[in-house]
Amino acid sequence: MIPQKPQSSKLRSMVIGATGYIGSVVAERLLQNGYSVIGVARSSAGADRLRDQGIEPLLASLEEPAQIVNRLADVDVVVYAAYGYNRPEAAIFELENGTSHLTDLLRSMFNSGKTFILTSGTGVVGDSAGIVYAEDTPLPETKAPITLARRKLENEVRAAAENGVRAIVLRPPTVYGRGGGFVVPRYLLDYALAHRESVYVEGTEHNKRSAVHVDDLADLFLLALNRAEPGSLFNTAAETDVSTIDIATSVSKAAGLEGRTRAVSLEEAESIFGHWGIWWAQHNQCSGDRARNELGWQPNRLSLLQEIERGSYAQSGHALGPRP
Ligand SMILES: NC(=O)c1ccc[n+]([C@@H]2O[C@H](COP(=O)([O-])OP(=O)(O)OC[C@H]3O[C@@H](n4cnc5c(N)ncnc54)[C@H](OP(=O)(O)O)[C@@H]3O)[C@@H](O)[C@H]2O)c1
Repeated sequence: MIPQKPQSSKLRSMVIGATGYIGSVVAERLLQNGYSVIGVARSSAGADRLRDQGIEPLLASLEEPAQIVNRLADVDVVVYAAYGYNRPEAAIFELENGTSHLTDLLRSMFNSGKTFILTSGTGVVGDSAGIVYAEDTPLPETKAPITLARRKLENEVRAAAENGVRAIVLRPPTVYGRGGGFVVPRYLLDYALAHRESVYVEGTEHNKRSAVHVDDLADLFLLALNRAEPGSLFNTAAETDVSTIDIATSVSKAAGLEGRTRAVSLEEAESIFGHWGIWWAQHNQCSGDRARNELGWQPNRLSLLQEIERGSYAQSGHALGPRP
């Protein structure tokens, strides 16, 4: 049961990334819990979709944050579920520049007491190499610009708590469910359906990763909204130890390949999946205990493997054969 905010005057939110996978489910959950939602959309098609869902669209983008900043007076809560530095150039620019794409927005919230929730990601850890990372486990050294920029962004958001913003950071691992997300459908299952093979990087079959169902994640956003302390950080892992070979096997079954898998070299994985091939070869483990203990989070949706084999991916037609 998600606790309700006691004061109805506080039920006003903005979701940046409302047209995206995570943001759309969080926006839906906010609506279900009595919040009005302004959703940032970058296109009129996106705006139309939001309107259909009962969300007030705001045609804007982070490249010109003034329009977003201008509407902050109308909300008490801002949920950020937008881009995660898919292009290294953006990360390098921010690292060299010292500011981020959220600097203006956060500054405009200083001393407001309003809530800002950043959707970060367990990508900030990099390769967890057999360690299950808690929120206070020191992060390993890295030179990867995307990882560094994201760590810097987390710090910037949490530091806003010292300037009168109720700033909270959530770190999701692999997010799955509702037939969406990029890891399972877009990369692994689409590849398996199109090429009639399910692949993993040789030697990584016993690597482990964490995962969370998008609906369990949306529940956690609501819990954080109602209960988290300013400046707090939570991993959002429902599972911590799903093995690579089990994912590859489930994907194979979902694609009608009877559980057969093929080990490929890291180079081949990169040529298939691009940069994500490197991530597929890593461990990515974090613990969701803090969210369970401090916020009372009780994730209870289908596990990642169940969802692939008999959940929304199968139901959404992924398991029926290659797309035309
Ligand atoms: N999915 C996962 O498994 C996962 C795991 C860990 C962390 N995360 C992080 O969670 C966040 C959301 O992920 P997602 O999977 O929901 O991504 P997504 O489906 O690609 O959605 C991204 C959203 O951000 C919007 N957006 C992108 N660039 C923008 C800009 N410059 N200005 C305004 N809006 C912009 C997109 O708008 P359009 O609709 O116009 O493109 C879309 O609404 C990302 O930071 C991602 O790294 C995701």
